[in-house]
Amino acid sequence: MLQVFDENYLDIDGIEEEVAREEVLLASAQGVTEDPADVSTISKEIRDMRLLHCKARGSMEHGKYTPRIDWIPSRTTSKITRQNVNEVLDSVGTRGQRKIKIGRAGRASSFSVTAEALDGRVTIITGRKESGKSHLAKMIVRGLLDHGAYCIIFDLNDEYASIGLRGDGSKTQVADKVVTRKPTRDLKFSLGSAGLRSMTSLLQHSLEMPGTTMREFMRIWEAMESKNEVSMASLSNYIQMWRCNEFVRDALYARYYTLSNSGLFTDAEDKMFSLEGFFRSHPDGGALVISLSRVSPLNRRMTVELILSKLVELLEQRSIPPVFLLSEEAHLYLRETYWEDLITRMRHFGVFTIFVTNQPDAIKQEIYRQADNIFLYNFSNDADLSLVAQASMIDTDTVKSIVRTLPPRMCLVLGHAVNNLPVLVSVDEFDSPPTGITRRFFDTRVELPAYMP
Ligand SMILES: Nc1ncnc2c1ncn2[C@@H]1O[C@H](COP(=O)(O)OP(=O)(O)OP(=O)(O)O)[C@@H](O)[C@H]1O
Ligand SMILES: [Mg+2]
Repeated sequence: MLQVFDENYLDIDGIEEEVAREEVLLASAQGVTEDPADVSTISKEIRDMRLLHCKARGSMEHGKYTPRIDWIPSRTTSKITRQNVNEVLDSVGTRGQRKIKIGRAGRASSFSVTAEALDGRVTIITGRKESGKSHLAKMIVRGLLDHGAYCIIFDLNDEYASIGLRGDGSKTQVADKVVTRKPTRDLKFSLGSAGLRSMTSLLQHSLEMPGTTMREFMRIWEAMESKNEVSMASLSNYIQMWRCNEFVRDALYARYYTLSNSGLFTDAEDKMFSLEGFFRSHPDGGALVISLSRVSPLNRRMTVELILSKLVELLEQRSIPPVFLLSEEAHLYLRETYWEDLITRMRHFGVFTIFVTNQPDAIKQEIYRQADNIFLYNFSNDADLSLVAQASMIDTDTVKSIVRTLPPRMCLVLGHAVNNLPVLVSVDEFDSPPTGITRRFFDTRVELPAYMP
């Protein structure tokens, strides 16, 4: 089984000389039209001959795939046939039952990934700007919802809220499973529901609270908890009354004011968001879209930190089922140490991340190495190209030559989803309202009268 990864003209010694001679002859010898031996056709055919560069991906014996490539077939008597991608993939092994159709591959009329191939896995979707990454991510999320899964989406560009709607605005069957929340608007936390663990990790990582202050904070928390009065209001009182060093008190106050001014915290029962509540109210799966657009970087980081630590806590207690986490441009809000956590510890608890990025260098090499599925769109920049080529699980030749020439809306799928045989997929249209379109200066300008400032 061979996969073509590149194509060029056949170069045989002297062919350029031959081409040049023929061109000169043609130009100078006017009137010579006789060619009884039909030499010119043969010569044209030779000049047009193409060489297909292939990689051996295994062999088929009696309809079964083996990864063995330790023999080569005859060059003269072999017959070459095209294979149907789906048949090849199915002969390698089962990929799962829950299909998510994303497009077409080769001559096959449809190509699907399966929900099982993403389940328990780390997936990366990358490619240059406007190549279609979010488009594919939306298809995958809608597919996962169709199969009853839970997704949490960190949405930077307000793109995912309409994931349950069709282009004409009508509802699909998953529309009621999508919940959109925006930090400070309708996504607020209470100290009690966040819990000590999330709060200390938030203070330590997002607000850089020093160790001594942290110790005092934990003691204050214990005191509040023993009296059953964990809240923002009592935190302020406790800090005021607490017997401690003035520097520590100042440090505590500084953090308290940051928390309270962020608008992310509330003491009102009816205004606070409950992650558990979201799961309970959607027994057949659902998507929680956390809209991070126009949210300050600090609030973004705090929200993500609180959601993730709550998620892990609930998963540890086994009070919620595993979830898929879709994270676009994660380097903008995910702190360094969370990356490895997400792909190792959190994955075991049941957080399966799909990273989407147009900056492949924002994702560390270790993460690529742990990735189970990669959807690669076009990259024309050489640095990006060598980075993804090195990082992906197949040979660099294939990645470099295929990805460099990929037209928009086509992607190379690698990994588990395609049984480790790289497949080129032409991604389908997706029926949803247009979103995430970059706001432009001239689009809005045309309607304004010329004299308007
Ligand atoms: N397979 C496809 N069929 C039809 N339209 C597509 C397809 N893929 C992408 N598009 C359209 O192309 C545009 C850009 O796609 P998309 O927003 O998914 O790109 P992106 O890679 O996420 O870009 P960015 O890096 O800016 O986030 C969108 O308007 C989208 O609807
Ligand atoms: Mg996008």
